[in-house]
Amino acid sequence: MTDKKLVQKAKEAAEKSYCPYSHFSVGAALMTKSGKVFQGCNIENASFSPTCCAERTAFFKAISEGERDFLKIAIVGGINGSFTDYCTPCGVCRQVMAEFCDRDFTVILGKDGDEIKSFSLGELLPHSFGLK
Ligand code: THU
Repeated sequence: MTDKKLVQKAKEAAEKSYCPYSHFSVGAALMTKSGKVFQGCNIENASFSPTCCAERTAFFKAISEGERDFLKIAIVGGINGSFTDYCTPCGVCRQVMAEFCDRDFTVILGKDGDEIKSFSLGELLPHSFGLK
């Protein structure tokens, strides 16, 4: 699947966001090396700290289904479902990515319209702490 199509999947995932507190909906679409796509949205909570980001929702769905080899993830986010700017993954999500992905794992950011931007995980989380 092309990066642009994966961003479309992330936009579709953001429609499911549960964000009554921040009104900031985020969607992610994670693709495995075998070509499967797992979508995720952010899920907030009245107690705030149990909130789960879209990226981690997608990763945990995939990992709990037995997937371990990931190629790329697309992410969109914005207030009230409009994606006026790029939404970069938070530090916690970068750390989760680093647990399961190599430095060359690709993080694709989308926004309204067709423009996309991409980074390697190594660029987003240099000198990371981990098993290796
Ligand atoms: N959020 C994500 O889903 N992913 C990120 O990488 C950054 C933040 C969510 C969490 C919360 O529901 C909302 O965006 C505002 O912080």
